[in-house]
Amino acid sequence: MGRKKRIGVLTAGGDCPGLNPAIRAVAKTAFSHQAEVIGVKDGFDGLIHAQTRKLNWEDVSGILTLGGTILGTNNRADPFAYGEDKKDVSKQVLENFGKLELDALVCIGGDGTFSVAHKLQELGIPVVGIPKTIDNDLQETDYTIGFDSAVGVATESVDRIHSTAESHHRVMIVEVMGRYVGWLALHAGVAGGGDVVLIPEISFGMDKVCQELEKRSKLGKRFSIMVVAEGVKLGGSELVVKRTVKGSAEPVRLGGVTYRIAEQIENLTGLETRVTVLGHLQRGGTPTQFDRVLATQFGKAAVDLVYGGKFGRMVSLRGTEVTSVPIKSAIAEQKKVTPDLPLVQAARAVGTCFGD
Ligand code: F6P
Repeated sequence: MGRKKRIGVLTAGGDCPGLNPAIRAVAKTAFSHQAEVIGVKDGFDGLIHAQTRKLNWEDVSGILTLGGTILGTNNRADPFAYGEDKKDVSKQVLENFGKLELDALVCIGGDGTFSVAHKLQELGIPVVGIPKTIDNDLQETDYTIGFDSAVGVATESVDRIHSTAESHHRVMIVEVMGRYVGWLALHAGVAGGGDVVLIPEISFGMDKVCQELEKRSKLGKRFSIMVVAEGVKLGGSELVVKRTVKGSAEPVRLGGVTYRIAEQIENLTGLETRVTVLGHLQRGGTPTQFDRVLATQFGKAAVDLVYGGKFGRMVSLRGTEVTSVPIKSAIAEQKKVTPDLPLVQAARAVGTCFGD
């Protein structure tokens, strides 16, 4: 009998609900093959510095409902451009992978993680990917782990904002994350019944937004709810950047565009307007049932890929089917909302204004 397989697993990029259920599913499926599972700490940082922990059954038991990641994560540790001087430390990763005697590496992450995973695969590390991101911007999968939970938080927030909007007869703006795409804003906007939904993929005009708000006022609707993606561009071109993070592969952090939009609404219409920026609340808390089920299926499917020797692939959801695709095609470009998307059409049909 050959030696047991040793499967490494890491979570990289921003955390989100559903990472722990995915780790659990990878580990428990691997255990059913008598494999050993090595948890890599803090994303690729753990491979650069050989920081790992062996995962036993009890480590992954009871974590299905837990937010965050028991392994820790990092959205700055790119082994091909590490630290502020962007040093290539990929050789160190290769050496550590060998020293740890790993047979495969399961990477749970988003586009940044998979760009690194793809390069590591080319260097000879057998990788398998599990897609996660609240932004849902990965190609080749209908859903990523974490998205549904974030939509849930954002929707509940929009529901709660209604009370103040109605009581004070205000325009209430909820700013959601999503980076350069509008999936989160679109889904939360539709689910929460937003009157105006602004997303990066549909350029908006302040005149159109104000017309809609004034139209509602004239019709006797004494409040309006707006759901706005952090990545919308003011005047069609200006992104509002909250900060830049040194040493990060993607240093730009968006946030705060809604304060500018609110100011313009008050100036142009005189309607009292307030802003709530949800921020990292959207990445916290227990995963929804959908994310737990998705993570469980993805984790199992990832280990199946390892045992089938199908490396360089990412598990994916197409309709209700779990399948897999080359990691390379998942990161070729961002998955954006398209104006002809049925959900955009449905939103328009029920009167949602996109400011266009
Ligand atoms: O990619 C996930 C995400 O939450 C984005 O929606 C957001 O723009 C960004 O990460 C925030 O990053 P950080 O946690 O580094 O501030």
